Amino acid sequence: MSTQTESAVRYEKDADGIVTLTMDDPNASANTMNEAYARAMEAAVDRLAEEVGAEGSDVKGVVIASAKKTFFAGGDLKGMMQVTKADSERIFAEVEGMKATLRKLETLPVPVVAAINGAALGGGLEIALATNHRIAVDAPSVQIGLPEASLGLLPGGGGVTRTVRMFGLQTALMEILLQGPRFKASAAKEKGLVDELVATQEELLPAAKAWIQANADIEDAAKQPWDRPGYKMPGGKPSSPAMAAFLPAFPALLRKQLKGADYPAQKAILQAAVEGASTDFDTASRVESRYFVSLVTGQNAKNMIQAFFLDLSAINSGSLRPEGVEKYVAKKVVVLGAGMMGAGIAYVCARAGMEVVLKDVTIENAEKGKNYSAKINEKAISRGKLTQEKSDELLGRITPTADPADAAGADMVIEAVFEDPALKAKVFAEVMPHLSPDALLCSNTSTLPITELATGIEDADARDRFIGLHFFSPVDKMPLVEIIRGKETSDEALAKAYDVVLAIKKTPIVVNDSRGFYTSRVIGVQINEGLAMLGEGVHPVSLERAATQAGFPVGPLQISDELNLELMVKIRKQTLAAYEAAGVEAPKDGAYPVVDKMIELGRSSRLVGKGFYDYDESGKRAGIWEGLTEVFPPAEQQIPFVDIQERMLFIEALETAKCFEEGVLTSAAAANIGSIFGIGFPARLGGAAQFITGYEAADGSIGIEAFLKRANELAEAYGDRFTPSAYLEELAAKGEGFPA
Ligand code: NAI
Repeated sequence: MSTQTESAVRYEKDADGIVTLTMDDPNASANTMNEAYARAMEAAVDRLAEEVGAEGSDVKGVVIASAKKTFFAGGDLKGMMQVTKADSERIFAEVEGMKATLRKLETLPVPVVAAINGAALGGGLEIALATNHRIAVDAPSVQIGLPEASLGLLPGGGGVTRTVRMFGLQTALMEILLQGPRFKASAAKEKGLVDELVATQEELLPAAKAWIQANADIEDAAKQPWDRPGYKMPGGKPSSPAMAAFLPAFPALLRKQLKGADYPAQKAILQAAVEGASTDFDTASRVESRYFVSLVTGQNAKNMIQAFFLDLSAINSGSLRPEGVEKYVAKKVVVLGAGMMGAGIAYVCARAGMEVVLKDVTIENAEKGKNYSAKINEKAISRGKLTQEKSDELLGRITPTADPADAAGADMVIEAVFEDPALKAKVFAEVMPHLSPDALLCSNTSTLPITELATGIEDADARDRFIGLHFFSPVDKMPLVEIIRGKETSDEALAKAYDVVLAIKKTPIVVNDSRGFYTSRVIGVQINEGLAMLGEGVHPVSLERAATQAGFPVGPLQISDELNLELMVKIRKQTLAAYEAAGVEAPKDGAYPVVDKMIELGRSSRLVGKGFYDYDESGKRAGIWEGLTEVFPPAEQQIPFVDIQERMLFIEALETAKCFEEGVLTSAAAANIGSIFGIGFPARLGGAAQFITGYEAADGSIGIEAFLKRANELAEAYGDRFTPSAYLEELAAKGEGFPA
């Protein structure tokens, strides 16, 4: 056996002539696409080519393996945040260099096998796609896919070119590239991304070597399908009749899927795939590199990498959690109120393995709440995603009750009764005597300030354990939980709440107490801005379309119908009262007359079957109410479409800045993730804080200065509420962003 260390890639040949290239970056806990890797892999493949080509070579085949927990972690995303258009040619050359190595590996005359021991996402899968056979361990940690699109990128390491040739345009685009799903090993096998599964890590290398032994003499085994004579692309080339029928409809389909919002990555993927499919492999690969470079040097990828990689991984690794508090595990939780929210909260807690006591005023209510979990499980079972046994276990952990004594020994309470401070105080008082002495006390209130609610806890010494845990509806689907720290909330309580949110597989953001916390406050100003525009004469169809094309999931009229205008009036009253208490005159809000008019017309919500939209008997939306343009006649001269969009985006961003200024927010990650996951801020813009610091103006200038300039323009045209605060001006002057 000969061994040579090639820094990031080890080269070992065994007695059977099988060479194993083990990726093992000496300077990191994971293998990534860095310069050291690129050089080491190139050297290893060059050496292989030389050995295999030498007369009398005994090399039978090659295994690509990893010595890390993941197979390969993909591109250097942090580095990508720094690149600009000026770096385009350098990056193109680097990408082409790495791809040449993979192409050389894939065209060796001996079979090459990928031994996938852990996650192979993005660049990791692209390495594996350049082998002749992929074997993966069937373990939960093994995730396989090309998720680049979700970061505003495209798989530029051959991922587009090879998946199109493996699966055909339609399948590659629809099932792998455009949405970038991450497959479990078994699903990847079903899809055909993986050829073989083994049950354990120990079986992996032997299985890889066994495949080489069995295929060493089969000529085609060392050839990729697209390098074999007579290869035909599955589904046909773009010029084939079947494809010619499918392709023209595709951009429209994609636009519909993205609701018309501008996601450059999806467009580039589509282009690269179609253009690449019409040509030979090497040209296709170069086309793919070009599109990759245009994306990676653009602002959209930076926005998305910031939010979905940097911010999200920081939050998940505890960046917003106070240090020095031991990791907390809640075993028994009492959920007070088994309504819509309580039922959902009980489900996610039980799913995470906690024992749940679900309490309501009557046992019937509580049982109805538990039944919500049963229904979710039934659906999951019918889809083959859950076994009956696991379902029974989960349901067995939920005890419905009307008796506070069932809270005995619980280490956590989550209150979700009606939005009434006196009732909330009462239900806490009922269970307090039964709880474990240091139990965490949480309220799921969506509007009541936490500091005030805490005073409802009779035992003043317990108020530092009181905290807001704001879930979003529907609880089982929405990924965010906003943790609200009241004035008296301790570090310990905050750390515990953070641990609980992670344990139930949700993403926590931490904010300081304020009316509407962070998320409700920001979505509130956006809806009001939208309704004000309707009142000013913006056409309702333009308004809704502008919102979805900006990347909001729905328009302001649709949200208002869901939210219920009566509720908005209630919140308005609280807001106005707060202004009055502070002795400050409340700013005029153009939304108020619109709301009042609609209520007067009896069109307050989807709930009553009538709002800005019409609804059929089953509650299904049936289009914008025809009478709306009579009540709010569209102005003859419509304001620019981009202004409609930017008024909604800027008003949210400026309110976010205000939250920083007031100390409600202390972290850009919380603002970005909170705004995207909680209230549908456009993902393509990377969140409400990133929208300010990474703002890209129409003239191509980027950054906070460009944001301020545009905000001042909007202020001039539409009112003072768009005038940036001194705080933002100062941030820009200092050349700083928000705290991370
Ligand atoms: P809901 O009306 O569906 O449920 C409230 C439940 O509390 C009912 O089942 C009621 O019987 C029960 N309840 C009343 N008095 C009780 C008592 N003394 N003991 C035990 N249970 C009692 O209300 P929903 O929508 O679930 O809201 C609950 C809380 O969650 C509110 O504070 C609300 O502001 C908050 N919230 C609501 C969101 C939403 O989208 N609906 C989102 C986030 C928070």
